Amino acid sequence: MNIIISGASKGIGKELAIQAAQNGHSVLALARNKELLQSLEAKNDFITAISLDLISDDCSKTISQWVDNNGRIDVLINNAGQLINKPFLETSTSDFKGQFEANVVSAINLIQVVAPFFMGKAHIVNITSMGGIQGSSKYPGLSAYSASKGALSVLTECLAEEFKQKGVSVNALALGAVQTEMLENAFPGYEAPVSPAQMATYILEFACSGHKFYNGQILPVALGNP
Ligand SMILES: NC(=O)c1ccc[n+]([C@@H]2O[C@H](COP(=O)([O-])OP(=O)(O)OC[C@H]3O[C@@H](n4cnc5c(N)ncnc54)[C@H](OP(=O)(O)O)[C@@H]3O)[C@@H](O)[C@H]2O)c1
Repeated sequence: MNIIISGASKGIGKELAIQAAQNGHSVLALARNKELLQSLEAKNDFITAISLDLISDDCSKTISQWVDNNGRIDVLINNAGQLINKPFLETSTSDFKGQFEANVVSAINLIQVVAPFFMGKAHIVNITSMGGIQGSSKYPGLSAYSASKGALSVLTECLAEEFKQKGVSVNALALGAVQTEMLENAFPGYEAPVSPAQMATYILEFACSGHKFYNGQILPVALGNP
C-alpha cells in the first residue's frame, strides 16, 4: 500500500514509518526535523521523508510529486501532534491557538491536499487521545491539548459522512499512554504500559484493514488511564 504518515520524525510516527516500510509498503514520512527524517530515510528503502511544517507550509507539491511516483494514496495517518502542559489560567490564547493549529489545523491542511488524490477505497486515520473523548478521565494542565484532540475526533465523524460516497473511510484512534517524549511532558515520571513500537503495530494494522469494518468511529486504544 502507499501510506502517508505525519509526525514521523520520532515517537509513534517514526515507528509507524519503519514498520510500514518493513512490511513492504511505500511510505511518505512528514515532519519538521530534517536531521531525524534524513536518518529515517537513509535506513529504510521504502521511505521518502520530507521536512515540512504542516501548520504553515504548503504541502501540495510534495504530495503531487509522491503520487506521480507511486500512482495513488491508500492510507493517510494524521499522527503529528504537540502537547503543552499548563494550568488553564496560565494558558494564553496563543497557547490555545498553537495547540489547535498543531493538532487540528495540521490534519485539516493535509487532508485537503491529499483527498483529491484518493482513487477508490482509502482510509484516513486521525490519531487523537483518550483525553479528547467525552466522559474519559481528565487531567489538570491538559485543557488545550485535550480540547484540540476532541475537535479532531468530531472532525473525524464529519469527514466520514462527507467522504463516504467516494469510498474514503475516516476513523480516529484515541490513544492511551505510550512511552514517548510527549507522554513524559504530560505525565513526568509515569511509565506507560505500551511502547511506541507496540502501538505502531496496532495502528498500522488498523490503518491497512480497519476501514473494512469501521467508518466515522472514534476508537479508544488504551489499557488504562492515563
Ligand atoms: N504518547 C502518548 O501517550 C499519546 C497518547 C495519546 C495520543 N498521542 C498522540 O499520538 C501522536 C504521536 O505522539 P507521540 O507521543 O509519538 O509524540 P512525539 O514523540 O512528540 O511526536 C510528535 C510528532 O509530530 C511531529 N510534529 C509536531 N508538530 C508538527 C508540525 N507542525 N508539522 C509537522 N510535524 C509536526 C513531530 O516532529 P517534528 O518536531 O520533527 O516536526 C513528531 O514527529 C500525537 O498526535 C499525540 O497527540 C500520544
